[in-house]
Amino acid sequence: MGVDRMRMFSKPTMLLVVLCFWAAFTEADYLKYKDPKQPLGVRIKDLMGRMTLEEKIGQMTQIERKLATPDIMKKYFIGSVLSGGGSVPAPKASAEAWVNMVNDLQKGALSTRLGIPMIYGIDAIHGHNNVYKATIFPHNVGLGVTRDPQLLKRIGAATALEVRATGIPYAFAPCIAVCRDPRWGRCYESYSEDHKIVQAMTEIIPGLQGDLPAKSRNGVPFVGGKTKVAACAKHFVGDGGTVRGIDESNTVIDYKELLSIHMPAYFDSIRKGIATVMVSYSSWNGRKMHANHDLVTGFLKNKLKFRGFVISDWQGIDRITDPPHSNYSYSVQAGILAGIDMIMLPENFTEFIDDLTFQVKNNVIPMSRIDDAVGRILRVKFVMGLFEDPMADPSLVNQLGNQEHRELAREAVRKSLVLLKNGKVASQPLLPLLKKVPKILVAGTHADNLGYQCGGWTIEWQGVQGNDLTVGTTILGAIKNTVDPSTQVVYMDNPDANFVKTSGFSYAIVVVGEVPYAEMYGDSTNLTIIEPGPSTIRNVCGAVKCVVVVISGRPVVMEPYVAGIDALVAAWLPGTEGQGVADVLFGNYGFTGKLARTWFKSVDQLPMNVGDSHYDPLFPFDYGLTTESRKGN
Ligand SMILES: *[C@@H]1O[C@H](CO)[C@@H](O)[C@H](O)[C@H]1NC(C)=O
Ligand SMILES: *[C@@H]1O[C@H](CO)[C@@H](O)[C@H](O)[C@H]1NC(C)=O
Ligand SMILES: *[C@@H]1O[C@H](CO)[C@@H](O)[C@H](O)[C@H]1NC(C)=O
Repeated sequence: MGVDRMRMFSKPTMLLVVLCFWAAFTEADYLKYKDPKQPLGVRIKDLMGRMTLEEKIGQMTQIERKLATPDIMKKYFIGSVLSGGGSVPAPKASAEAWVNMVNDLQKGALSTRLGIPMIYGIDAIHGHNNVYKATIFPHNVGLGVTRDPQLLKRIGAATALEVRATGIPYAFAPCIAVCRDPRWGRCYESYSEDHKIVQAMTEIIPGLQGDLPAKSRNGVPFVGGKTKVAACAKHFVGDGGTVRGIDESNTVIDYKELLSIHMPAYFDSIRKGIATVMVSYSSWNGRKMHANHDLVTGFLKNKLKFRGFVISDWQGIDRITDPPHSNYSYSVQAGILAGIDMIMLPENFTEFIDDLTFQVKNNVIPMSRIDDAVGRILRVKFVMGLFEDPMADPSLVNQLGNQEHRELAREAVRKSLVLLKNGKVASQPLLPLLKKVPKILVAGTHADNLGYQCGGWTIEWQGVQGNDLTVGTTILGAIKNTVDPSTQVVYMDNPDANFVKTSGFSYAIVVVGEVPYAEMYGDSTNLTIIEPGPSTIRNVCGAVKCVVVVISGRPVVMEPYVAGIDALVAAWLPGTEGQGVADVLFGNYGFTGKLARTWFKSVDQLPMNVGDSHYDPLFPFDYGLTTESRKGN
């Protein structure tokens, strides 16, 4: 309305016009979905009512950070970004560099018409493991040993803080697989072969996400603000039950066993307000989980009333077909119709967007399915306060790898060790070791290797070797910190027997095991420790009293060596805080850990789990010797 025409109105009319303008203006400016005082359901409905198909499909699209730019975020209305294993803004990037990267992408998302924040996700599965200087906690195989749900809760809380320290609000953890065959390369991501232990360990979820408010409804996701993260129970369902432990393959069991072994930890997770669930690559009785409508929609969403969102695994829908990506339209159709809400698309996300758009426009996929997916994604984003606080809080950067978290990890290491043998030396058990003796030997491939003791999913997807990857304490370093200053510590990777025999060592600590691996590459049919580990055990333990510490993601072949070893400790994959190993070896704390897995004699017994009729283990499930702490010996 021009100034000239305004002059034509009388004063009262002018007032009316101004009022109308004001009302129209505030009406347009007030967006219900942006008002945190509005009920959750109202906000979701209001926002969905404003969204185009393009904007909705964008919410369902999760792209890898390598392809993400602020412009891409804006152009495609991208709802989520992830870091794959080892995908970092720069090698050894600081927390500030992470925050800046995440915030830049967030600005791109917020610059869209509706300004829906994106959610950034990462595999923080034993601490914030992709990030330099983060506290690396023991892998789950060790945490199951602790039988300590409150410890898990504290680890969850520390991990959430470290993830938030880098500006990230979403962790793809915990893995609640029940690994039934250690030949599986992801067995270390599983707390136990026993679902009851896995269920108890879901206490990490309130650590990651915060404690559920008393009035919360079952199945509704909960994330308690800026120091907590959305968590992800994975991999739904039966991932740990595949035949011969082959990764991503087929779990062949009946419905009753699926429900009684692999499903229980999902009940607990949902009860604890888990925000998201990731689907398994594996199949159940020949049917890909990524295309299983009965279990994803029928069971998880409808029967269990899970109200968070379901996310695919990395290229999970591509792998619905064999070979992967051979019929992508079909993959999109089958995955979305199964009930997957957010699709992890590390590569060609425009192909997904085009395919899904076409299928919705042609009624292959009903709009109601899209609305279900988007409603769930928005629910999680609203619940966690992402609309109110979309940008990272830079004041949290000092949480990364802080001393308190390292002490917690060290405690977890102590509680995760299992003493499998403790032979007598001069009528005294060898452990705890004496701190004050003239000279000791430390040997083995794994004694001075931070990368080995952290295992897979550390800095890189498959893990790394050596001591340069991040900040931490090797077992050798920890031993040196712990013995009396007068005790000479000699370290040799693989000494010959004659040298050991003639050097006057009081005893030896031999640290051997597996080298890092992760999914796809970690499957093993022989479960042996790497050379020269076996010969180091023979050379050293044949010549001097010795304790062997095994660093591994699962029970490994030990039967041939046990008789020739004085003491044997399973240390699993302890992470950066190797001091916890020395704390217990030298008796500052006692051994308390009990096996959460069966230790087999030979691989031809496998699979063999507690309760099986052919049960004949080297060390049974729940086994573990104890020692008293004797500080200051
Ligand atoms: C893709 O799969 C669908 C559904 O099974 C089938 O109808 C179609 O022919 C397949 N296309 C190709 C190119 O194989
Ligand atoms: C992504 O897929 C589309 C088909 O939707 C194709 O045209 C394009 O070349 C692909 N891009 C890449 C980088 O593979
Ligand atoms: C055991 O299997 C792994 C991989 O499955 C292989 O790399 C290794 O050489 C095998 N070891 C022995 C002793 O056969």
